Amino acid sequence: MWVTDVAATMALLLSSSRAHALPSLAPTGPFFQELGNNTWVIGNEIWNMTQGRQYGVKLYYKDHDCVGDAVGHYVSYNGAQSDLNWTSASIHNGGTYQGATYLDVKFASREGDMHWVIFSGLAGAYQYFVNRDLPTLGEFRTLWRLDNTTFTHGKTDLRDEALPPLSEYLPENKVQDETWLRTDGSGGYITKYDLSSWVRTQSYYGVYSDRFGSWYINAGKDYYNGNHLKQELMIHRESKTGDAVQLNMIHGTHFQVSAVDEFPEGKMWGPWLWYLNDGSREDAAQRAQDECAAWPYAWFEDEAYHQRGSVGGQLMLPDGRPATHAAVFLGDNSQSKTALDMGSDYYYTGYADAEGRFEFRDVRAAAYGLQAWSNGSELADVTTEFLQQDVVVVAGETTELGTMTWRVSNKTKIFQVGDFDRTSYGFAYGGAPYEHGLVEKCPADLKFTVGTSKTEDWCFGQSKQGSWVISFSLNKLGAPIPKRAQKEEATLIVSLAGYSTGVSSHIWANDVVIGNLTSGAAPGLLNDPSLYRSGTTAGEWRYFEFPFDAGTVLRKGVNEIRFEVTSNTTWRGFMWDSVVLEW
Ligand SMILES: *[C@@H]1O[C@H](CO)[C@@H](O)[C@H](O)[C@H]1NC(C)=O
Ligand SMILES: *[C@@H]1O[C@H](CO)[C@@H](O)[C@H](O)[C@H]1NC(C)=O
Ligand SMILES: *[C@@H]1O[C@H](CO)[C@@H](O)[C@H](O)[C@H]1NC(C)=O
Ligand SMILES: *[C@@H]1O[C@H](CO)[C@@H](O)[C@H](O)[C@H]1NC(C)=O
Ligand SMILES: *[C@@H]1O[C@H](CO)[C@@H](O)[C@H](O)[C@H]1NC(C)=O
Ligand SMILES: *[C@@H]1O[C@H](CO)[C@@H](O)[C@H](O)[C@H]1NC(C)=O
Ligand SMILES: *[C@@H]1O[C@H](CO)[C@@H](O)[C@H](O)[C@H]1NC(C)=O
Ligand SMILES: *[C@@H]1O[C@H](CO)[C@@H](O)[C@H](O)[C@H]1NC(C)=O
Repeated sequence: MWVTDVAATMALLLSSSRAHALPSLAPTGPFFQELGNNTWVIGNEIWNMTQGRQYGVKLYYKDHDCVGDAVGHYVSYNGAQSDLNWTSASIHNGGTYQGATYLDVKFASREGDMHWVIFSGLAGAYQYFVNRDLPTLGEFRTLWRLDNTTFTHGKTDLRDEALPPLSEYLPENKVQDETWLRTDGSGGYITKYDLSSWVRTQSYYGVYSDRFGSWYINAGKDYYNGNHLKQELMIHRESKTGDAVQLNMIHGTHFQVSAVDEFPEGKMWGPWLWYLNDGSREDAAQRAQDECAAWPYAWFEDEAYHQRGSVGGQLMLPDGRPATHAAVFLGDNSQSKTALDMGSDYYYTGYADAEGRFEFRDVRAAAYGLQAWSNGSELADVTTEFLQQDVVVVAGETTELGTMTWRVSNKTKIFQVGDFDRTSYGFAYGGAPYEHGLVEKCPADLKFTVGTSKTEDWCFGQSKQGSWVISFSLNKLGAPIPKRAQKEEATLIVSLAGYSTGVSSHIWANDVVIGNLTSGAAPGLLNDPSLYRSGTTAGEWRYFEFPFDAGTVLRKGVNEIRFEVTSNTTWRGFMWDSVVLEW
């Protein structure tokens, strides 16, 4: 099967019969070879891989099989049950770009097509997936399960270390999903969730040793689900087999309540670069920089991919302040999901500058909903979010939205504990490196006195039975209860960075229960696994308002807001963002 539109220098496209006819010369460019029986070999003069119906094995690089007895390469959704089956493969495209020849090899499954774009001279390949008929799903990934003697270490933006040896994963020490008590008596844990990282800012990650490195460099981020606070698993030791795992979670749910999406036909994830080297992290970092500079890829032949435009504007608060460093997000043009839970199409994250100006470049042409919220710092007091629907991005054009006003609360603030930014930053342990069970270090009872306590005196998570009290004096704050407020409502705003079910609380204002946070019967809250899966910064953000009658409940002098945990489950509970009382 010869493909004629591909440069002759690279054309080593062998049918099974021709393969037998030729001596086994090493190919000089990208190639695609069909062996029959749903088996193909792809690669170039530097590496090659044998792709079977489900798994890509025999990854030869530097004359060494990097997969060995491990499972190899595959694409799957919703856990391990649904590994895609490749029913046919073909050359999708090919040509030369800046002197380098390439082949785009397409493996087709019922659900969609996995592409490998193989350039001459490149160790690795660009990969992308195009949806045909994926089911409505939460988890969708491509991954390598590699030989664990060839790849002994793992690196993310946050961690760089040896993968824990399989011998440490003792069945009798398993404490929850993919989490084991260490055998060294330290009381610490081994869990794959400790190796998670932020998706939107991630530069490169992978597994390596002193001779081999296998990396993912996802230069574009728009095909991922979620917002700035999207975090995912990246690397780990497979706990059943010991394989070194390099995980490309292109749609994931590991730290969220729900991220179940339907995908339009043609939704494309990628291209990202899967990159092989000698294990050098410096080289991988440099390559990641180059890839980011080159995104969106000029060589990529896909019309819709190149239909991109820009959109910008400025966000101001009604009091004349600019929305300094606000988090800005281009998402679905409907408000049926939270920004973190959106994931059907393409999503763009950014921050406003000091003047509240923002710009998104290289945005796929479409209509979006623009959202903004406080990222702390100068906006730490802003509890509202900004939303503008029908923001239309046109290919080759810049949409200028001008100056927009972000409505804020007009009530008088009595106190605020913690910055409003959808994260636990600022509190004790808030934003610590991923660590299983860290919330155990937060106390059962805690007292915070407005005016004298510091933000870090509040802990990032509340999990144990007991009471966390915010004590505040209305006189000291120079805010005596105004007569007109006596019949007015006060509002307690509770912003949680995350919440794992199994812990319930009553919220008291002095002697009155003004609300509850519970995962019990309806309208109970839903679970996000962040707190018990090593999350320390954020999970699924939740916003609550508990109104009450200030005139009858509050008094001159010392008052208290109390969060009383009435039932608890180990490692679960509330991850705090901010608590605000206003009237
Ligand atoms: C075809 O592949 C299947 C499974 O991958 C294998 O069991 C079978 O032996 C193969 N047949 C031939 C003729 O190679
Ligand atoms: C794949 O690489 C191995 C090891 O370098 C080599 O022996 C083999 O010929 C290559 N296969 C193809 C089809 O090029
Ligand atoms: C792929 O085929 C296997 C049977 O060999 C099956 O168990 C699996 O469910 C199939 N995958 C999908 C996504 O249907
Ligand atoms: C590597 O995997 C093998 C199983 O293939 C396992 O026996 C071994 O313990 C693993 N090595 C490490 C360091 O975990
Ligand atoms: C957003 O907030 C995080 C956490 O406080 C901070 O590290 C980051 O610099 C902020 N981004 C901007 C653009 O201010
Ligand atoms: C706050 O007051 C201004 C001016 O009266 C008004 O335009 C704005 O809608 C109010 N904001 C809210 C959130 O009610
Ligand atoms: C519940 O909290 C109490 C402390 O108030 C603690 O002693 C107990 O161990 C916790 N129970 C669980 C299941 O974590
Ligand atoms: C919690 O508050 C909700 C809303 O006010 C109420 O419907 C529910 O009964 C309360 N649950 C408990 C256990 O107090």
